[in-house]
Parts: sequence; C-alpha cells; structure tokens
Amino acid sequence: MVNVLFVCLGNICRSPTAEGIFRQMVTSAGLDGRITADSAGTSDWHVGEPPDRRSQAAAKRRGIDLSNLRGRQVQPADFDRFHYVIAMDASNFAKLSALAPPPRRDRLHMMLDFAPELGVREVPDPYSGGEAGFETVLDLLETASQGLIGHIRDHDLG
Ligand code: 4NP
Repeated sequence: MVNVLFVCLGNICRSPTAEGIFRQMVTSAGLDGRITADSAGTSDWHVGEPPDRRSQAAAKRRGIDLSNLRGRQVQPADFDRFHYVIAMDASNFAKLSALAPPPRRDRLHMMLDFAPELGVREVPDPYSGGEAGFETVLDLLETASQGLIGHIRDHDLG
C-alpha cells in the first residue's frame, strides 16, 4: 500500500481538493486498495471543519464530493504513516521540513513538481480571493494528480 498525504495551511481549500481529485483518479485507474489518500493542514485553525463551501462547490461542479472530509493538523508521526507528504506551496513545504524527522525528509514533496510542464511551483492560496482562484486550484491539482499517479506507478507499484 502506498499512502499519500496532501498538506496546505488550513486543510479546508487546497489539500482536501487534492485529496478528492486524487482519490477519484485512483479509483478510475483501478488502484483502490493499492493507494490511499488523506489531507491535513500545517495550522490548527480549521480542525474538525468541513472544506470551505467555495471549494466544495467548485469540486462538485467537476463531480467530486468533498463534504465528508474534516480538517486536521499535520503531525510528525504522519511522516511514518505516509510515504508521500505533499505540500501545496513553499511555505507549507518549509513548515513540513521543520516538522519531519530527518530520516523521513525524503518523503516530502511539492505537489506541482509532479507536473513540471505547468511551469508553476506553487498552488496559490484561494482563501482570500474570488471564485476564479478555486477553479485555478482544481486545474493545477488535476494535472499534478495525474503526474503523481504516474510517478507512483513507475516508482512504487510493481
Ligand atoms: P488552504 O486555504 O490552506 O488551502 O486550506 C486557507 C484556508 C484558511 C486560511 C488560509 C488559507 N485562513 O486564514 O483561515
């Protein structure tokens, strides 16, 4: 089993969206039972809350239901449970790098490094912006999720 954890700041916009998209792609690829997905935030600001209603609405328009997800804060032990810990932006990456037990630091990645063709390194925080930001998040995460599945197929699945 390959366990994947997506991490942003609040765990109510970008990382639950990544979890929902990636899960759907894993199912479509027939890889349920071989890959699991979860998400968490570097902050504790939205622990126990469902995803932001704007993220839920944008995902729903693409057939993805985020309503059952709940916010939680990332913890050092996540680096033992998850083979991939994937940051949405450079600030998340820096916080995770400080949190990771040194022998596990190679489990930490930037999400958009799985889609180098995009030419963008960070998934922009949509929380304080308009509707378009939520669509951008979905577009970036769809492309990177495909890349991530391909990477896991090549590196982890026989
Ligand atoms: P996320 O977005 O990190 O993609 O979940 C945010 C959610 C909440 C806040 C900031 C970013 N906040 O300031 O509460």
